[in-house]
Amino acid sequence: MTLSDRRILLIIGGGIAAYKCLDLIRRLRERGARVRCVMTAAAQEFVTPLSVGALTADHVFTDLFDRQDEHDVGHIRLSREADLIVVAPATADLMAKMAHGHASDLASTVLMATDKRVLVAPAMNPRMWNHPATVRNRATLEADGIAFVGPGRGEMAESGEAGEGRMAEPLEIVAAVETLLDERPKPLAGKRIVVTSGPTHEPIDPVRYIANRSSGKQGHAIAAALAALGARVTLVSGPVTIADPHGVETLHVETARQMLAAVEAALPADAAIFVAAVADWRTAGEAGEKIKKVAGEAPPALRMVENPDILATIGHSPQRPGLVVGFAAETQNLAENARAKLDRKGADLIVANDVSHGSGIGPSGVMGGDRNRVRIVSRDGIEDWPEMTKAEVAKRLAALVAGRLTGG
Ligand SMILES: Cc1cc2nc3c(=O)[nH]c(=O)nc-3n(C[C@H](O)[C@H](O)[C@H](O)COP(=O)(O)O)c2cc1C
Repeated sequence: MTLSDRRILLIIGGGIAAYKCLDLIRRLRERGARVRCVMTAAAQEFVTPLSVGALTADHVFTDLFDRQDEHDVGHIRLSREADLIVVAPATADLMAKMAHGHASDLASTVLMATDKRVLVAPAMNPRMWNHPATVRNRATLEADGIAFVGPGRGEMAESGEAGEGRMAEPLEIVAAVETLLDERPKPLAGKRIVVTSGPTHEPIDPVRYIANRSSGKQGHAIAAALAALGARVTLVSGPVTIADPHGVETLHVETARQMLAAVEAALPADAAIFVAAVADWRTAGEAGEKIKKVAGEAPPALRMVENPDILATIGHSPQRPGLVVGFAAETQNLAENARAKLDRKGADLIVANDVSHGSGIGPSGVMGGDRNRVRIVSRDGIEDWPEMTKAEVAKRLAALVAGRLTGG
């Protein structure tokens, strides 16, 4: 009984996949879990509270303003009296409400009132899943520490539709529940890891700066994935527009020199992972006032000086963490350049991402996008990873770091 006496609050959203929840309830209960359900109004169009209640052997909660329910349990208690909240199927609508903090019905209010972990199993048409709004909402929810299972690829319930958006099967959801509720020690418990992320901004004058296209998505996802494995993570982030990851101490800096100082202050650490796209150069002297455009005068010449190389500085420092990982965004000779970097920078691993136009994802795709294709270059050789989401790259890299740090 892997889930003996664990309390699961299952929120059922209004999608066709709601029928799979009946099986999910059975699978959770046969593993010993106590399952209580909240159904949205739309969910009740697909399966009845009668079926759900028969399978949970409990009252089914449907209405925020039900005086009897509020009297007996209430939305706050519903959210607190659970070890884990599972949203399945998570509709595009529920994901949007969660990402924006709506509390407009019982399901969304419970999700706002909870201090428990939340697992989301999205299910929707591939076009809805790939809609920029859903992509944004998913990234927000991941940064908030919400766990996801699925969706997978395959046939949709609507005839002739196929693609990504199919809800994870009940047994996959059960496995994700078991993992989230697993209280055995995590592989990176007690380990301190420093991660850098995002671009740096190098000022020209008080209003202008030199920057690059890095969004911070990959670095932030890595920090979150390491924290999920139990590490104490300090994330040093350049200026980004994404949220600080859940469960991670995040320090905000602007320039390469500030980033180096923050990294040095965060040492000692067991590992350092330098994902940030640090500007190689800065202007020789920042103008104290905004540089004026003067009619008839030539544009100002910017003299550049080299910024500190954070990876090389830490890679050769007496404070060097036991494991140093650098990222290299290359547009040519990816493997050779990355391998040369290993020794020059004192790194153990280089994660090389091909940002060339020929890579299929391209510079504006990798820098700013949600997908990545990387090669892991170490002294043992080169490992090619297939194209995947940045969250998946992060999870796989966190597992690799855990293996290196714990000898697994
Ligand atoms: C037949 C039918 C199937 C639907 N399937 C889905 C679905 O799989 N995923 C989804 O996000 N929305 C789906 N919808 C739309 C949702 O039911 C609708 O957005 C609803 O407002 C969701 O409410 P809820 O998020 O409160 O459950 C479907 C609608 C209909 C009529």
